[in-house]
Amino acid sequence: MRVVILPNEKEASSFAAEFIENFIAQKENLVLGLATGSSVLLTYEELIKKHASNGLSFKKVTTFNLDEYIGLKPGHSQSYRHYMNHKLFNHIDIDKKNTYIPECFNEDYELCCANYESKIKSTGGIDLQVLGIGANGHIGFNEPTSSLRSRTRVKTLTENTIKNNARFFNDNELQPSIAVTMGIGTIMDAESILLIGLGKHKSKSVADLIEGPISSFCPGSVLQNHQNVVIVLDSLAASDLKLYDYYIHTEKMYLEFMG
Ligand code: GLP
Repeated sequence: MRVVILPNEKEASSFAAEFIENFIAQKENLVLGLATGSSVLLTYEELIKKHASNGLSFKKVTTFNLDEYIGLKPGHSQSYRHYMNHKLFNHIDIDKKNTYIPECFNEDYELCCANYESKIKSTGGIDLQVLGIGANGHIGFNEPTSSLRSRTRVKTLTENTIKNNARFFNDNELQPSIAVTMGIGTIMDAESILLIGLGKHKSKSVADLIEGPISSFCPGSVLQNHQNVVIVLDSLAASDLKLYDYYIHTEKMYLEFMG
């Protein structure tokens, strides 16, 4: 696990955007896993800037989002499809036909989830999965005690997650309490993983993820078992790490070593 701690969210997000840019440059037809929420917003803004200013192209990129609410009508302003279009896809040159979100509308949910898994497999699998982390340690919508080998499926959200995401919904708007999410096993199949953690409210789940025992109680802790993970944090999100100074030191050594 490479832990990169940067002074603030702007620098952490610039690092994340550059990291994604390098993957796009290195692999033709990159398959990119994407997240929603606030942690990735500045990173998406940076990617849009890179597209506009230095021609970073997404023409050959295919994307798979982690999750989507159940119960919102297509095009609903709080759907993750709407979020992705407005926060990223509408501003870059990606072919929207190559952007997948686990949207299931009044259908056989099991089949819909199985189809999502098959679609990921048929593209050759995810090369780089971008993740945020919930204050309760969730990745995607895999809430605490999710099976560490789970696949894409319907999950009931915890009260805590519903409360944390209420800020995105208006008072009179229906806020779904169930969602479809890639499973933890699905996420773990990605070749590489980049997790972005920002803000003091993430410091405990970040510490549990990096330094705690591997436990379904903190679903993100399973990443300790992945061979290729980079965690980029601002100093607030990193503030509960016991080995804080060590991570700063190892990153300095890593950069020196890599020239
Ligand atoms: C949300 C999303 C995740 C996201 C995480 C953190 O509920 N389902 O994809 O990464 O929880 O959200 P945020 O970045 O807004 O804190």
